Amino acid sequence: MTAGFSGAVATYYARHRRGYPPEVLDAVAGAFGLDSGDRVVDLGCGTGQLTLPLAARVGAAVGVDPEPDMLALARRAALDAGVTNTGWLLGADGDLPTLGRLLGEGTVGALTVAVAIHFMDRDTLFRSARPLLRPGGGVAVITNGAPLWAQDAEWSRALRRCLERLLGQPVTATCQTDEAGPRRTRDAFVVAGYRCVESSVRYEAPLTVDDMVGGVFSAMSPDRLPSPQGRAEFAAEVRAALGGRETVTERVRVWLQLGLPA
Ligand SMILES: C[S@@+](CC[C@H](N)C(=O)[O-])C[C@H]1O[C@@H](n2cnc3c(N)ncnc32)[C@H](O)[C@@H]1O
Repeated sequence: MTAGFSGAVATYYARHRRGYPPEVLDAVAGAFGLDSGDRVVDLGCGTGQLTLPLAARVGAAVGVDPEPDMLALARRAALDAGVTNTGWLLGADGDLPTLGRLLGEGTVGALTVAVAIHFMDRDTLFRSARPLLRPGGGVAVITNGAPLWAQDAEWSRALRRCLERLLGQPVTATCQTDEAGPRRTRDAFVVAGYRCVESSVRYEAPLTVDDMVGGVFSAMSPDRLPSPQGRAEFAAEVRAALGGRETVTERVRVWLQLGLPA
């Protein structure tokens, strides 16, 4: 089972998606008291944007994802960066109980789910995570800003118009980065017996047209990805819509919802 992040889409993801600033890692490590003796599981790890910096703060990190192409690129990134304390497991949220049997109950300092909770059944996930967690450990649900086409900025509106022309339909997807997603997570934490602590990290960073266009392609299903020529035309159209600017400023808000077993 894959969620569609295969082939060229995975490559775009690895190349063009943002990672996480240190403040996000500080918040997760601080909330759960993570240290070099800890194991963490990054579920829906994709190409390792969170797994790798997380691994630097703990004893070992396991990235779990149902898409082999994403996992292969995550593993490649770890090798390239000389990171030696990560493992990569083909699997999904439903495999958590098996992972618990593998790692042992009460052995995991943090289960992180970054930009992936909208693919999962939160109630089942949070319930099945509890036996895995060591005392003081918890679950971190993280959202890495709003999709590039859904932001309150002139460049984002221009991008959305280009995307709507490309797809021939309105583009309204927010990947649950609007209020509905965090509310569902909050409610599910409470139902599963967690206390939910929320915070955000805001920062501004340059966004090149290459990363903007690559970021859009990284969010498409592989069967909707235009031909290489169509991609080049789309990039040219975005450049024209931005008046030839090569870089804009993105205001990123990383939203953290930390679940601590009550
Ligand atoms: C948007 S990417 C997020 C990647 C990375 N965590 C990040 O922060 O950039 C979502 C990932 O969730 C994975 N995914 C989809 N359904 C899943 C499921 N049921 N269980 C675990 N991971 C899933 C996808 O394969 C994809 O790699």
